[in-house]
Amino acid sequence: METIEKTQTAITDSELSEQIKAATKDSHVRAENTELMLSYQRGNVSLRQYQLLLCSLYKIYEALEEALDRNASHDAVAPIYFPQELARLESIEKDLKHFYGQNWKEKITVPAATLRYAQRLREVGRDHPEYLVAHAYTRYLGDLSGGQVLGRITQKSLGLKNGEGLSFFSFPGVSSPNLFKQLYRSRMNSIELTETQRNGVLQEAVTAFELNIQVFNELQDSVSCVSETENEMRQRHTQHKQNTTT
Ligand code: HEM
Repeated sequence: METIEKTQTAITDSELSEQIKAATKDSHVRAENTELMLSYQRGNVSLRQYQLLLCSLYKIYEALEEALDRNASHDAVAPIYFPQELARLESIEKDLKHFYGQNWKEKITVPAATLRYAQRLREVGRDHPEYLVAHAYTRYLGDLSGGQVLGRITQKSLGLKNGEGLSFFSFPGVSSPNLFKQLYRSRMNSIELTETQRNGVLQEAVTAFELNIQVFNELQDSVSCVSETENEMRQRHTQHKQNTTT
């Protein structure tokens, strides 16, 4: 009992960066265990999976960075506003151009879960800018952590050369991801929040992870659906060949 109380006091007293990490610990495990992230960890990501992921990330970062830009001088955003170091939209655009060509915008696929995520980011930017830290944390600190490993796996799995199609994973403005993460955490901890706002931020971070999980699941379902259809077509083709030769 005493231990539980002590733990709870420790969590309540601790700083935002620690609280948010503790609040999203289970969500992180769930995100890591989505089929898409498991494919990554097994080192076998397909070009289609990566292309669809980039399409969704484009819509997500478009909404996130628009909301951050618009609220750049808000007290709860200014300390964690690092467009030079972190902004991803142009990098993703470069990757999409690489895969889909100049008229990539007409070719990208945006599933429903991605639209819901972008919609939530717009709502937060409009109605609760103090929650943006939860979304920025979830994406950018993730990109600077496990995301770096995912970049190397993508490069190897797809045999991409000279960083082509891999700009999303590269942060030229961040020379040491670990040092930058430390700076980012200290900036998060400098944001002044009321108790209610702080609880809202923690809740929003769990939502942010959940929205990512839904995007990954939908993406994986559509890839499985395509490969099932391809398999069925291949089987029908083989069957047809067998029938015509006998
Ligand atoms: C941190 C791995 C997926 C968000 C980390 C860290 C690792 C990691 C090793 C560093 C932990 C530390 O510095 O203490 C992975 C792996 C993943 C994955 C292997 C999947 C294959 C994700 C996803 C998200 C995410 C999908 C969110 C969309 C984060 C965040 C942090 C983090 C926000 C920073 C935690 C903190 O220091 O507060 N991840 N991750 N990760 N990851 Fe992931």
